[in-house]
Amino acid sequence: MNPSRVPLIAGNWKMYKTPSEAESFAKELLQEIPEKADRNILICPNYLSLGIVKNILSESHILVGSQNVFHKSEGAFTGETSPAMLQDLAITHSLCGHSERRGIFGETDEMVSLKVKALLDYSIVPILCVGETIQEREENQTLSIIRRQLTTGLKEVLSEKAGSVIIAYEPVWAIGTGKTATPEQAQEVHAFIRKELAQLYQEDISRKIPILYGGSVKPDNIDILMSQPDIDGALVGGASLKIDSFLRIVEFHAQ
Ligand code: PGA
Repeated sequence: MNPSRVPLIAGNWKMYKTPSEAESFAKELLQEIPEKADRNILICPNYLSLGIVKNILSESHILVGSQNVFHKSEGAFTGETSPAMLQDLAITHSLCGHSERRGIFGETDEMVSLKVKALLDYSIVPILCVGETIQEREENQTLSIIRRQLTTGLKEVLSEKAGSVIIAYEPVWAIGTGKTATPEQAQEVHAFIRKELAQLYQEDISRKIPILYGGSVKPDNIDILMSQPDIDGALVGGASLKIDSFLRIVEFHAQ
């Protein structure tokens, strides 16, 4: 963690919590999560709960984001949700290209790049997720895969807007498996991402772009992960679903 960047801890609820469960959890978060000027907190519930959670948290310091978006403003796109709709709910962030979207729902780098651009057009911060599979890691392709996902994912983003983007490095093999990347493995890829961003834009812009780590982040590994110089926050799945574990992650102590 670099002290010049305010760290962001984001909870990705995935397809967990019904709207009523989301409502009571949001109320609990509001009571339990202390406001701290030195860290930002973001919750990404399912679409059905977005409005409810946003209403509960609207006056608080806790930000609310979407897990996905479609790149058009409106139209005959059954089942999709537009950035205009998110903006109307005052949603400030959205995940883009999460590996479950890529792997299960066939999202390509091209599709992800359209989402990134559409969100920026509506002043919503895209959290562009990148990460390699275990096979790609074993075949030493990690860095080339990350380069491709970044370069294509950001190809519509001009330098003026690049500072409004967040990157999340989530090795696919670490998501939901309990196998976290070691702090060294994560730092190596984060530093590579920072270098790539400096090449795509400029060094000062690359220093401003937060790079989150995701993949089995838990209360017992958050401190060491957050101690790495290029890890600016965490994208937390499973451990964001319980108040105690999420609270402990939010209250990390970088060493
Ligand atoms: P996990 O999920 O923390 O359950 O591994 C992270 C994510 O998919 O964003």
